[in-house]
Amino acid sequence: MNIILLGPPGAGKGTQAKFLEDRFDIVQLSTGDMLRAAVASGSALGQKAKEIMNAGRLVPDELVIRMISDRIDRPDCKNGFILDGFPRTVPQAEALDGMLAEKGLKLDHVIEMTVEDDALVERITGRYSCAKCGVGYHDLFQLPKVAGVCDNCGGAAFKRRADDNVETVETRLTQYHAQTAPILPYYRSKGVLKAVDGMAAIEDVTRQIEAVLAG
Ligand code: AP5
Ligand code: MG
Repeated sequence: MNIILLGPPGAGKGTQAKFLEDRFDIVQLSTGDMLRAAVASGSALGQKAKEIMNAGRLVPDELVIRMISDRIDRPDCKNGFILDGFPRTVPQAEALDGMLAEKGLKLDHVIEMTVEDDALVERITGRYSCAKCGVGYHDLFQLPKVAGVCDNCGGAAFKRRADDNVETVETRLTQYHAQTAPILPYYRSKGVLKAVDGMAAIEDVTRQIEAVLAG
């Protein structure tokens, strides 16, 4: 099963993708996570992407298209994948159609997660994760059971993303409305787009997504 989770920054794409990975034995392909790994490694791609990401703008289409095409070819994608943060422009959506056709694959579901802009800023600025295992937390909505200790691995160090500040979030939202929202009509016209209410509680959103996948 191959799925796209579409939605603005902070909509909950990463949060829901983790549940879907376990539930359906498919892999999360987050272009944001891949680019952050490239930045951390200091690779040529990472050097190109770093300033762009820190400013909240989009990395050039050709770089992310090549990155995702190579990633889909890896053996762990054989049961399917959840695209999280890709495609993000109409040219990326068109390139995805082309690469899936070439690889003999198809899209099963495109799910839009709708959330109001004000809620997104609160979600993003409160987000942090375990520095050791990467499990996500939030200052208000998702605290570890024991303060300062990761529920998953017991780690005691946490980190925040370089682009998770109020100024950058504004740019990321502007980019979403200008560049990414136009792909919604693209998928609507193909009849594959379904929306879920991303303002609901995390577990309710999971149930809504499962209902779409079952339908
Ligand atoms: P990327 O990493 O994709 O970031 P994003 O799209 O801005 O989305 P986020 O990861 O911020 O949000 P999310 O929807 O995953 O939310 P999450 O589940 O964490 O991209 C980063 C940058 O990389 C881009 O700006 C760009 O520069 C570059 N890039 C990436 N892909 C690219 C592409 N294809 N083309 C060009 N450039 C690209 O949830 C957020 C918080 O809210 C968490 O704390 C969570 O606990 C909480 N939360 C989640 N759901 C709920 C809920 N239902 N109720 C309450 N709280 C919730
Ligand atoms: Mg994410």
